[in-house]
Amino acid sequence: MKGLVLAGGAGTRLRPLTATSAKQLVPIANKPILFYGLEDLAQAGIADVGMIVGDTAPEVEEAVGDGSRFGLKVTYIHQSEPLGLAHCVLIARDYLGDDDFVMYLGDNLLRHGVSRFVASFEEERRVASVKGERGPSAQILLARVPDPQRFGVAELGEAGEVVRLVEKPVEPPSDLALVGVYLFDASIHEAVASIRPSARGELEITDAIQWLIDHGHRVKSQVVEGYWKDLGEREALLEGNRLVLEDLQPRNDGIVDANSRIEGRVVIEAGARILNSVVRGPAIIGERTIVEDSYIGPFTSIYHDCEIVRSEIDYSVIMARTKIVDAGRVVESLIGKDVTIGRHDGRPRALRLMVGDNSRVDLV
Ligand code: G1P
Repeated sequence: MKGLVLAGGAGTRLRPLTATSAKQLVPIANKPILFYGLEDLAQAGIADVGMIVGDTAPEVEEAVGDGSRFGLKVTYIHQSEPLGLAHCVLIARDYLGDDDFVMYLGDNLLRHGVSRFVASFEEERRVASVKGERGPSAQILLARVPDPQRFGVAELGEAGEVVRLVEKPVEPPSDLALVGVYLFDASIHEAVASIRPSARGELEITDAIQWLIDHGHRVKSQVVEGYWKDLGEREALLEGNRLVLEDLQPRNDGIVDANSRIEGRVVIEAGARILNSVVRGPAIIGERTIVEDSYIGPFTSIYHDCEIVRSEIDYSVIMARTKIVDAGRVVESLIGKDVTIGRHDGRPRALRLMVGDNSRVDLV
């Protein structure tokens, strides 16, 4: 079984952050989103991964390398335009050959990984082949969500079989969203070659799976346990950060001075310094980051080489090398890398920000 990881796409819902960077590399609890998926695949026993990359290919390739760090062998496949998830399968045809594979969207986060899911698909297919029967051609993962119209949605039959799939329906037939992890055998190749682009101009994997159903293939489904997040938007990303931080094991590899207080579960990475400050967990402070005369509140991740001075930061994700000085209270914010936020003059106010890479915010 191979892996196919999708790390292209335009990331339009996370602009301007994604105008210059890959959305899959935004850090969640100080680790790029994409790395969680790669770790899940390695844990599920997968060794060979094809990775679809687009405009942000250099950045993704630099971060992931040959994959050996994850125990994987990663082969890059270039997609010239984001033409849809089924298009990714189409261009990965030579790489995949006739192997079964698990397709994993690089902006999805699953609490319990994919091992069980992969194992049950392999087992069912093995049992079917021993009996001389045709096993399932695909397996999808579903999650109950309050806003199904934002996702692909499944309609199940009485026996729990998948009868219909619709992409972003205005009137969802159920609250079962398609999670961005799919298992396929080689029959998906005929499906992706047979479908037409959707109204949004993309070849939808949802339509390809529907094609399988319409052509007599069995499509299995399983409802996900634990959380699942599609991190394509700011709120979901902050929520994903919160969920990962909930499981944090505290550790201090940095320096906390005598005037500082660390409360609850906090990770302080190597070379980080906490000076005259309060950090209330769950929170993570990255390598070489300095927190001075400041307060860092729960569910905050501050990545490496940042400087937080005379500021309060709560429920936020701050990316690498960003400087926040005299900013007052910053909440529910997603702040890109190499950003400078400083106060010139004025009263304290709460801020709610979504600021792109290399931006500068001056508070007056
Ligand atoms: C894609 C799929 C959708 C699925 C979602 C999961 O949506 O088309 O069916 O529910 O991923 O993350 P997109 O993120 O491309 O809008």
